Amino acid sequence: MVRDDVLRTLEQHRGQVVSGGMLSRELGVSRTAIWKAISTLREMQFPIESVSGEGYRLAETSDTLSEAGIVMELTTKTLARNLCVLSTVDSTNTYLKQRASDLPDGYAVIADCQTAGRGRLGRSFLSPSGSGIYISILLHPLLPITRINMITVAAAVALCEAIAETAGFTPDIKWVNDVLMQGKKLCGILTEASVEAETGQLSYVIVGAGINVRTPEDGLPDEIRGIAGCLEDFSSHTVRRNALAASFFNHMESCYQLILSGNTEALINRYRSFIHFLGQPITVIRDGEKTSATAVAIDPNGHLVIEQDGQHATILAGEISIRLPGQAQPSSCARISKENSQE
Ligand code: BTN
Repeated sequence: MVRDDVLRTLEQHRGQVVSGGMLSRELGVSRTAIWKAISTLREMQFPIESVSGEGYRLAETSDTLSEAGIVMELTTKTLARNLCVLSTVDSTNTYLKQRASDLPDGYAVIADCQTAGRGRLGRSFLSPSGSGIYISILLHPLLPITRINMITVAAAVALCEAIAETAGFTPDIKWVNDVLMQGKKLCGILTEASVEAETGQLSYVIVGAGINVRTPEDGLPDEIRGIAGCLEDFSSHTVRRNALAASFFNHMESCYQLILSGNTEALINRYRSFIHFLGQPITVIRDGEKTSATAVAIDPNGHLVIEQDGQHATILAGEISIRLPGQAQPSSCARISKENSQE
């Protein structure tokens, strides 16, 4: 489509003037077609300036999510090579769930805004326009259901690596999948799956990630102000959402390949490198009941080893959550929901 080709060219020359003549020659279409494409892109909120007598310029500060802006920074083989960018959707996880049987492995959807973003434990996930990215990836891994936590581990690692690459600081992971900086939660991950009843194999997994990039125009609601943080609170520069999304996909593919090739040891080592609460006292919450423990280790399966009353115990995501000292909000678990059931 001419519109997408024009956007790709402007993205490649972000901040520089590109002449209408050059666009018309390179793309092999008329000047009128270029002008129409520019008008459509402006209607889509892309900040494209006309520079009198010279051409068009995509503003250096543009942070409009676009397929062209993401794809030009993708290094993946398959993950997110089928990509759908939406300005608004109820929930990117729900969007993929409704289409899971028709879409290929690695299909990704990313939205600027969610009207019914879903979090773990039936919570909602605040997803206002212009301030974050809301991503879901559909995977069809040949894995037993017991290995699903590895997908969540992969997403947490990929988020941390993407944040380090594009925001310039390194966050922490609080087991199992909270990505934090100075105790503030920057990202949420929701992993959902459908299982073949007879074989116990996963028929599909949807891994969803919401990343708070900057404070929404209306500020954060009171109930999450003390808990949530945004990347730009900790970064010295503006974080471009297209670059962040592409980086997440690039790292996620590398982590996913480790799972598929059976090299989960390498993945768990990457995961451990972001975990800094081992050796500390934690509160363990099982069925609403709280007990004290010490975090000891992350085992090769990504499970948390704790010490309680002088005994070591291994706890699995999904059955237990933990809180770190001084933490206001319960942590989360990878949630497994049967097809057609809601969290
Ligand atoms: C949590 O922290 O409780 C998990 C939040 C997960 C939010 C993401 S945003 C993209 C995807 N779509 C959803 O509806 N939820 C996940």
